[in-house]
Amino acid sequence: MVLTVVNVVGTSKVAFCICKTLFANSEFEPGFVVSRDIQRANWFVKNLRCGLPTTYEELSELSGIVFVAVPDAVIERVFSKIKPRMTGRVCVFHFSGFLSSSIFDVDDLDWGRGSIHPNMSFSDIDVALKSMERCFFGIEGNDYGMTVARKIVNSISEKFIELDESSKTAYHLAAVIASNFVTGLSHLAERLYSEYKIDRFRDIIPQLIRQTAENISKVGSVKALTGPVSRGDWNVVEKEGQIFKQNFTEYSQLYDVMIDILREMVYESNRKENKRNGGF
Ligand SMILES: NC(=O)c1ccc[n+]([C@@H]2O[C@H](COP(=O)([O-])OP(=O)(O)OC[C@H]3O[C@@H](n4cnc5c(N)ncnc54)[C@H](OP(=O)(O)O)[C@@H]3O)[C@@H](O)[C@H]2O)c1
Repeated sequence: MVLTVVNVVGTSKVAFCICKTLFANSEFEPGFVVSRDIQRANWFVKNLRCGLPTTYEELSELSGIVFVAVPDAVIERVFSKIKPRMTGRVCVFHFSGFLSSSIFDVDDLDWGRGSIHPNMSFSDIDVALKSMERCFFGIEGNDYGMTVARKIVNSISEKFIELDESSKTAYHLAAVIASNFVTGLSHLAERLYSEYKIDRFRDIIPQLIRQTAENISKVGSVKALTGPVSRGDWNVVEKEGQIFKQNFTEYSQLYDVMIDILREMVYESNRKENKRNGGF
């Protein structure tokens, strides 16, 4: 039997966007929304337009699906607080990309456990809501948890991969590199626009990132590389290196490290090309 009532513990942005899409598109139904503060539970329910707001103190029983939607550092602690109030064959999930679901100590109870990690940034709820139906999830869990997790992600976007507990950390690190590091690098680009009084950063650079992402999606990272390193324009590489180091004295090594990575990509691409042409 697949459960359909979904309870949310913690008025998180991720839980809000997942629930908003899930309840609009499927037979899943809202249950309790549990918060440390009833005002925040009320706000969540009002904007979700469904659910029963409550607090940890008022909560009597939880059954069905439970989303433990709190920061990674407190998932385990919050779970042990609500566990005594769970009844029936519960299925409990968190949304962390880093932690596995084995932090939920439920296997001796025959309950489901899983993690459902959306590969998305939730810094802006409106942007996130618009992207939910295209969101790619990484799911992991025990057998029962996986059955329910597949049903949940199929009701949102139908896009997911199934992860091994042992690969979760590397999987999350890849997301950090590709999303957070790119945001950090974009911040340096924004600082240059500002320093040299160049207009329209927000029109130009995000579009460049989007188009680069499209190329990566089509041909992979190595082949998607363009620019001075891939062309062998070493004069440009050297001059831009000087400007980088003048402007970002605090991160001056970053330029050389990045150039080394790009150079290695060019070698790899050439090696593959030579092999295809029958060389060594
Ligand atoms: N943000 C992202 O872009 C993103 C992307 C993918 C996955 N995730 C994962 O999604 C999960 C939730 O992240 P989020 O960004 O949605 O969180 P969030 O918006 O910061 O909300 C977390 C909620 O947890 C509760 N909370 C905060 N501190 C707490 C504490 N010390 N003890 C108990 N409850 C506490 C709060 O709810 P109440 O005040 O109502 O109790 C808060 O609204 C995390 O596991 C995160 O790794 C996040």
